[in-house]
Amino acid sequence: MADASTTNHPVYETDALIAEDIEAYLETHQNKTLLRFITCGSVDDGKSTLIGRLLYDSKMIFEDQLAALEADSKRVGTQGQEIDFALLVDGLSAEREQGITIDVAYRFFATEKRKFIVADTPGHEQYTRNMVTGASTADLAVILVDARKGVLTQTRRHSFLAHLVGIRHIVLAVNKMDLVDYDQSTFDRIVADYRDFAKEIGISEFTPIPISGFKGDNITTAPSDNTAWYKGPSLIDHLESVEVANTAAQERSFRMPVQWVNRPNLDFRGFSGLITSGTVKPGDAVRIVPSGKTSTVSRIVTMNGDLDEAVAGEAVTICLADEVDVSRGSVIAASDDPPESADQFEANIIWMSEEDLIPGRAYWLKLATQTVSATIQHPKYEIDVNSLDHLAAKTLSLNGIGVAEVTTDKPITFESYDSSRALGGFILIDKLTNSTVGAGTINFSLRRAQNVHWQSVDITREQHAALKNQKPAVLWFTGLSGSGKSTIANIVEKKLHRMNRHTFLLDGDNVRHGLNKDLGFTESDRIENIRRVGEVAKLMADAGLIVITAFISPFRAERQMVRDMLPEGEFIEVHVDTPLEVAEARDVKGLYKKARSGELKNFTGIDSPYEEPESPEIRVDTTAITPEEAADIIIDRLLGDAGAGRPRGHEHD
Ligand code: ADX
Repeated sequence: MADASTTNHPVYETDALIAEDIEAYLETHQNKTLLRFITCGSVDDGKSTLIGRLLYDSKMIFEDQLAALEADSKRVGTQGQEIDFALLVDGLSAEREQGITIDVAYRFFATEKRKFIVADTPGHEQYTRNMVTGASTADLAVILVDARKGVLTQTRRHSFLAHLVGIRHIVLAVNKMDLVDYDQSTFDRIVADYRDFAKEIGISEFTPIPISGFKGDNITTAPSDNTAWYKGPSLIDHLESVEVANTAAQERSFRMPVQWVNRPNLDFRGFSGLITSGTVKPGDAVRIVPSGKTSTVSRIVTMNGDLDEAVAGEAVTICLADEVDVSRGSVIAASDDPPESADQFEANIIWMSEEDLIPGRAYWLKLATQTVSATIQHPKYEIDVNSLDHLAAKTLSLNGIGVAEVTTDKPITFESYDSSRALGGFILIDKLTNSTVGAGTINFSLRRAQNVHWQSVDITREQHAALKNQKPAVLWFTGLSGSGKSTIANIVEKKLHRMNRHTFLLDGDNVRHGLNKDLGFTESDRIENIRRVGEVAKLMADAGLIVITAFISPFRAERQMVRDMLPEGEFIEVHVDTPLEVAEARDVKGLYKKARSGELKNFTGIDSPYEEPESPEIRVDTTAITPEEAADIIIDRLLGDAGAGRPRGHEHD
């Protein structure tokens, strides 16, 4: 199994890239709180000018940079002889020419009172993915509106996304006030428009500020001479005083997802992680989730010595008074208010991959320090980010946002995203490519894990197998339609039967008449077909049988999924490797002909893919040997050196 914990993915990648910069920056601004915010606006809302202005006014531009900027402004600036602040931010010349900002850029600046990290995210419609990445760690969003244009579709989109990723502080910056003669009624009308819309999507509060990024009105001091009617704070004043996420998080119950177990020697055992909410002191009663075990905090250890108290946002190592089982992924929580665990929940999914979401496929789901295998159901609906309409959807494409049920293979510990971004947000990773394909925010659980128990049984799978005098196995045939899977599988079963082996053959065409008669041949139906067959094969192997399956099973991911369901060595993949031309020439059922004429859609090898096994246990070349010979090779391998299927105790045959 690939280790997803070492995966690179955009969300953390960007963080990693700037980690060093941040550290250097924080070092020089110790003891100030940090506010992370994003600016959202489209190309001509004046976003880059505003950020440039913030940096300039807080004197964060170094002298040489300023000189270059002045020279640059004279050359390519669009603002006459005045400094073009947009040039400060739109670093890349290609972007400058294109006129749009296409990636997330982080800038740092500080004032007397606070330090800031601003993620400059693109406003262009296609870049939902980038905006979500930039916004996922932000405390506040500055939504820019051009005073001449008012609330536009993109204003709504940005606000919806900012709210979706959990930003609870919104600034409505009505920019370019200089171009509407600082007219109060224009400002009031835009604010009223926005208020109506904000209510619809659950934004109850926001801070409207009339500004001019270009002229500098209400950026550092308010009101500016031009807007004497304005009673609120300047943008900087507001940014300096708004509550940061960690302060808010400290008021909630204590939680720390365990990142690693710190055990340098036999005398020390501590659990390291970042406190996501609450405070903790030695002597506090804690509960380990999901095990439910309780203990007491004995020490809080840091590099600078033990602490009497630690709070949200701090990374610490916690020691417990008792020897309880804690591992990476466990959450140490306040004993009287622990988070819940479940293996099924409803979430908003934001799709970030060029490849569509495949409902039913297993992806890695990473939430805080936990990594589990998860499948997403067909979306209940997709949300049109422009109109906010709910649309019917079978899947999600790049930048699509929808609501769907998620099922994990084991319970995870979480909170709703509303109450905790750290324990309510997750990312989805493709198991084969290891790339991040989506992000999600949990709404609520659908089934508490506590309610579905594993019933323990007295007769074990070993006892079933012992009675049958054989070692169970699953011979998993895979190959194109007409490759010869069923033919060879049949011969194998007949031979094994003659050898007194207890077998059962599951065949694609047959299973599709009963158990799977509700399934067709779309990608997700095939995935569900294989998932069910895998579960049935596993039950039969548990019952002690040698199971033989003959399904095209065209996707690597699902064959791997079945392999992972079974004990090591019990899954034997048999690739019936018949070239498409040969299978098509045989065309036993006349299906290739129909597929070529377009009468039959989604046919494997024609207009639906077949992913060949990379290292099957057995490969059979049907152009070189007969089905009889193939069957013998397979049986030799099954009963041969690996010892699978060989009777235990006395010989039968
Ligand atoms: S799988 O892809 O989901 O594993 P499965 O093995 O169950 O497929 O079924 C394949 C059989 O269904 C083929 O042997 C063929 O007889 C029949 N069939 C009907 N339509 C299709 C299709 N579009 N693609 C492949 N096989 C099809």
